Amino acid sequence: MNPADREQAVTDEVVASFAGTTDTRLREVMQSLVRHLHAFARDVRLSEQEWEAAIGFLTRAGHITDERRQEFILLSDVLGLSMLTVAINEPKVDGATEATVFGPFFVDDSPEIPLGGDIARGAAGTPCFVSGQVRGTDGTAIPGARVDVWEADEDGFYDVQYTDDRSAGRGWLRTGEEGEYRFWSVLPAPYPIPHDGPVGDLLTAAGRGPMRPAHLHFKVTAAGYRTLITHIFLAGDPYLESDAVFGVKEGLVVESGKHHGGTAPDGSRPEGEWASLTFDLVLVTEPA
Ligand code: BEZ
Ligand code: FE
Repeated sequence: MNPADREQAVTDEVVASFAGTTDTRLREVMQSLVRHLHAFARDVRLSEQEWEAAIGFLTRAGHITDERRQEFILLSDVLGLSMLTVAINEPKVDGATEATVFGPFFVDDSPEIPLGGDIARGAAGTPCFVSGQVRGTDGTAIPGARVDVWEADEDGFYDVQYTDDRSAGRGWLRTGEEGEYRFWSVLPAPYPIPHDGPVGDLLTAAGRGPMRPAHLHFKVTAAGYRTLITHIFLAGDPYLESDAVFGVKEGLVVESGKHHGGTAPDGSRPEGEWASLTFDLVLVTEPA
């Protein structure tokens, strides 16, 4: 047998080893994974030292991962696998808000806040009034939709990265009768994804930066509609063209209003600098 045939025989044998998998989807996924992984190793002529380095990398990713730090999601994000999965599963629908990367900083049990309440709850930054409407692509307002929001503070940290157990910069609310939502938060700032672990080392070796443009995360859930996971980004941000995790989409970039004193849209009279953002969240109907 020549060397190429011997290599192919290894692949064929491993693919065949999954032939008896009774879960047909698992069989399809594993056989395809083996074919592509082996093709990749042949393509780059993977050396034994490189194989060992890859195992070391994954081992370090495992060791740094805990309930607060998810290095494997970061790896998926910087490889663009997260955004590719979004592209496969959430194709663009005319008139609907586009989806983007989920990221590792969502938490399930964030506090409920009233319509017009404050999600910052102590997160540092310029106060920012965020408002808009949740509706379907046909223009129907969606009252009672659940809007989850989370964001980093002005120093670029999510509450789960704080050293105490404080919850800040996150919360959820229900839309009002006309699908409207509004809340106070802080103006988001650009921040680096966690880069003190193996994923950061990979970015450094590749000459890539860890920065994400400023953004506010949304997860919007309503009966009869596809759940939307997205962000809004700020126009003029220097990192819009070089997001470390490839999450920026043109339709998600908004201009922020800058204000000093005066009267806010909710009738309050903020002192000093504050900002405003308006963004409608348009959901896709879930087929019955
Ligand atoms: C985020 O936006 O929260 C995020 C996304 C991907 C990796 C790290 C952070
Ligand atoms: Fe984020």
